Formats: sequence, C-alpha cells, structure tokens
Amino acid sequence: IDMIKIAIMGFGTVGSGVYEILEKNRELINRKLGEDIEVKTILGRRLFSENDISKKIVKEFEKIEEDPEIELVVETMGGTTPAYEYIKRSLLAKKHVVTANKAVVAAHGTELLKIAHECGVNFLFEASVGGGIPIIRGLFSSLAGENIKEISGILNGTTNYILTKMDQEGSEFEDALGAAQEYGYAEREPEADVEGYDTCRKVAILASIATGLEVAYEDIYTEGITKVDKIDFEYAQKMGTSIKLFGGMFIDDGKLYSYVCPMIISSSDPLYMVKSVYNAVMIEGHTLGKTMFYGSGAGKYPTASAVVADVLSVFKKNNGFKPYWSEERAYVEDMDKTSHR
Ligand code: HSE
Repeated sequence: IDMIKIAIMGFGTVGSGVYEILEKNRELINRKLGEDIEVKTILGRRLFSENDISKKIVKEFEKIEEDPEIELVVETMGGTTPAYEYIKRSLLAKKHVVTANKAVVAAHGTELLKIAHECGVNFLFEASVGGGIPIIRGLFSSLAGENIKEISGILNGTTNYILTKMDQEGSEFEDALGAAQEYGYAEREPEADVEGYDTCRKVAILASIATGLEVAYEDIYTEGITKVDKIDFEYAQKMGTSIKLFGGMFIDDGKLYSYVCPMIISSSDPLYMVKSVYNAVMIEGHTLGKTMFYGSGAGKYPTASAVVADVLSVFKKNNGFKPYWSEERAYVEDMDKTSHR
C-alpha cells in the first residue's frame, strides 16, 4: 500500500480536528483511495507563541517546503501572516494546498489559484466558507451550468447565535456576545464577527466564484450587528418577523451588488428557521430557481471535515465526477431489510 505524505501547518482547533479525523477514518479513507495518508510533519501552535514569526517557525516551514515526500500541505493557521506566504511558497514548491483560511482566500485567492494552476497543483478551500457546508464545491461544480443571479446567506455562527438569543430570550447584546464566545465559534477578535468582517470575507469568496469577477472584500458594503438593540426585536416580533445578519450579492441589469447587513426577515422565509450557530445560503439561478445549503457553519469537526474532503479529492483516482456504488465504498456491512422507523 502506498503512503501519501502530508503536512499540517497550524495545529489549533481546526488543524488538530483534521488530524483526528484522518486517524479516526483511516480505514474508510484507505478504502476510498486505496492508499493511506500519513501526516508527516506538523507545524504546531507552540511555535507561534513567540509573538512574531520567529526564526524557528521559518526553519520548520522550510523543512516542509524542501521535503520532496510531502505532496500536500494543510494550512489551518488562520490570519494572513505568515499563512499567505507559506501557502504561496508551498504551491511554488509544487505541493497541493488545502486551507480553511477565509482571510487569505478573500485577499489573495485569485493570485494563489493562478499560481496553483501554473504549478500543476490544487489549491482548495471548501472550509473557508460555511464550515462543513459544501457550498464552494456546490457553486464550482454542482451549479456549474447555472447563471447565478443571487446569493444570500447567514454566514456567521457567532452573530446568528447572538441574534437568536436576543430574539428568543430578550437578551441584551453584551450578554448574548459573552454566551456566544463561550460557545467557541467566535473569532479571536470579536469585532471580526460582530462588525460583519468575517461574513464580508465569505461573501467576497462566494461572489468571486459565482461571477468569475475578482470581488474585493473592501468593496463590499459591510455593517455588523452592534447597533441592533433589544427594542428592535420587540418591533420585529410585532410584525411577525425577526432580524438576521445577511451577507450576499445579486446581479441587476448587469451590475453586481454585494452587502453585509442586519435585515428584517419574515417568518415565512426559509432562512427564518436558521437559528443559533447554524449557517445557510440561498442561491438563485436563472434556470435553477432557488436552492438552499444548510448546516454547521463553524466549529472544529465540521470545518475539519471539509478540509479532509478537500485532501481526499486531490488524491482520488477519478478526478471528474463519476458517481458509483461499489464494494470499495461500502462501509456498512449489510442492509437490514426488515426494520422500519
Ligand atoms: N467566527 C466564525 C463564525 C467562524 O462564528 O461563524 C467560522 O468562520
């Protein structure tokens, strides 16, 4: 059996989740690939504690960069420095890169995709938007034949949790924020969530994929939820509505509009029932009509699951999409044909 060797850069919540899933699903992955994946090198968070990019980290990274055995690098460091540089150098060293880093993808996605293309390797980032929800692959592949006219979504778990709590329990913003941070979904800087910056990066990525334009996150109108007050929910409820932080884009008369802002939502809207830390994205295409993606938009395992899926897709023998059922894929032993529930 062949052994595929990879490296993980950044061993925090998501990075360690990737490692655990690779271990836990070893047999299943082997059945799917006919090969094993070995994590040869880990660039751990310990090394990053010394405030800045110490010489030690650079040395550790260079070992990965110069290791001909390592075929793929998972980047789960977060932030743009040094993640952007390390991703770029890994691609230039002809290693595939899988990342969960929306900041890097939103700011440098076009350049990195171009480098990956020129170097004949993959640059994949399913986990950068909506955690475990297969939205990037959905847009790139399942909706490839579609002319997208609108995307609108709830793309940040922390703010959706806060707004849900304010709506259902009449909580004050500050108290709800504290509870959300305990949940562990929040960014290191709470402004990234509550001021809408996190959603803004995700909209930039989705809009770029949907339109093929390089949508800069700086150009997206962005307003967070800090001005939403308890009393706003009282009024919203009287109208049979609620308030949610939306991020999205639409095309009107050949022009692209994109935004992040709190909006009133009617209780008959399918996105109304997206509560707590869940995320959802509604996509409308000219021939498709509407389709909705819903699920765990953040968190250790959902996000790590999307990273692992990207890793597997790089090494799958049949690279195009050819559905099949076979023994290889069967990870249940048999089917019980008598049970009902
Ligand atoms: N802080 C983000 C959220 C994490 O709350 O959804 C996922 O990007």
